[in-house]
Amino acid sequence: MLAQPALVVVCRRGAVWMVVYVLHMRTIIEPFRIKAVEPIRMTTLAERQTLVAKANYNLFSLHADDVVIDLLTDSGTCAMSSQQWAALMQGDESYAGSPSFYRFEAAVRELMPFRHIIPTHQGRAAEAILFSLLGGPGRVIPSNTHFDTTRGNIEATGADAVDLVIPEGRDPSLEYPFKGNMDLDRLAELLEARGADVPVVMLTITNNAGGGQPVSLANIRATAALAHRYGKPLFIDGCRFAENAYFIKLREPGQHERPVTDIVRDMFADADGMTMSAKKDAFANIGGWLALNDDVLAAAARNRLILTEGFLTYGGLAGRDLDAIAQGLREIVDEDYLRYRLRSNEYIGERLGSLGVPIVKPVGGHAVFVDARALLPHIPPLQYPGQALAVALYETGGIRACEIGTVMFGRKPDGREEPAPMDLVRLALPRRVYTQSHADYVIEVFGDIVARRSSLRGLKIIWQPPQLRHFTAHFAPLVFGGPPGDANGGPGPLAS
Ligand code: F0G
Repeated sequence: MLAQPALVVVCRRGAVWMVVYVLHMRTIIEPFRIKAVEPIRMTTLAERQTLVAKANYNLFSLHADDVVIDLLTDSGTCAMSSQQWAALMQGDESYAGSPSFYRFEAAVRELMPFRHIIPTHQGRAAEAILFSLLGGPGRVIPSNTHFDTTRGNIEATGADAVDLVIPEGRDPSLEYPFKGNMDLDRLAELLEARGADVPVVMLTITNNAGGGQPVSLANIRATAALAHRYGKPLFIDGCRFAENAYFIKLREPGQHERPVTDIVRDMFADADGMTMSAKKDAFANIGGWLALNDDVLAAAARNRLILTEGFLTYGGLAGRDLDAIAQGLREIVDEDYLRYRLRSNEYIGERLGSLGVPIVKPVGGHAVFVDARALLPHIPPLQYPGQALAVALYETGGIRACEIGTVMFGRKPDGREEPAPMDLVRLALPRRVYTQSHADYVIEVFGDIVARRSSLRGLKIIWQPPQLRHFTAHFAPLVFGGPPGDANGGPGPLAS
């Protein structure tokens, strides 16, 4: 992956000014060597067509060993380092007071200096505990954009979850450095109109649902100041905090020379708490935490933890997981890693762009989001262009991606079907797992699909559960592109 060429810096040694060429190779390499490998089972087009038909054209139903490149999620799918594997052996499985917990707590506090750090088995468990205490009917909880488990946990208590991202964050083709920022005017309006009903203000960094877009340090500080002016705590959903910090370093005036660890500490300095999924920016395969400063709320959260997760010093995790997280947190803020990480996504985005594949711009920190509605304009939203593209990616090259569009959001609570605002397909990159040749393979598969895109057909849903249908719904391909719900079946989207 190519980046910027050599840098020329002018500096002074005593009384002499010198021109220095900072050695800056243009190729950004994976900053690691591979010590253990996991073979990929290669499959043929015919095999994949049979497998996806058997899975009812729902990629969540595939067996993972039938997938060549798995871009379904970046969550829990990272490769651990040799030091993390070594740390597992240090894991102490004592029910209470495990040294693994104290190492975990110290590693979290090194970056996020909260008074209380409560381990959970993953991010949504931290959310469930927090909102069981702060939610409830009549309450309203704003965020830039709530991730779907966050929204689900808020709504499960009867509270409303409100998304207040800036307008730039809603325009997929607009280039803007911090598309995850909170809309401060709309937040002020909400706090003014319904302040008594708002128990907490949330901020998701990076903004996953909006395309992995970062939030600026200035916006984090301004959101905290506004929340505090109304006497409300600010909690950060920090799943991808390190990617966000590196975007701040790259894009925010005055931050370029600062170490990422300092930026991370600043990001959390004005917050009152956080929820975290260690499956993202802690390089762990499982884990999370809830951290906060309020002693009374922390005591209530610990009570719930014991009821639902486990004792205070393990919270639903094995001691060894806590050690893997502690080590992972030290590694995730490595700037060579973060540079490679953001560049990997950008590289895929650039190459897709040159093939004419419309994507959400700029590319986010953990994923490339493809605008399937724009790529496949002949497939109406109610025939699920995102799902058609996801199925074509699997059939063509064994790539598993995730539809984020009308399949996921199109069914309203009263059962009506409506197009979602966008039909996207997310290519989420697991951390430290795939190399550049895997990325080149993904790009080649897209090239093949682009060349015959007008032959792709939509799908209809032939069975769906009452909630969260995207995980388990059954689909059938449409042959003639008829309206959804009509009875035609037939060959998959590869058929012309
Ligand atoms: N918040 C954000 C922003 C997330 O992206 C996720 C998970 C969670 C909370 C919940 O964390 O999975 O540990 O319970 N996102 C994954 C994804 C599932 O694929 O984007 P969890």
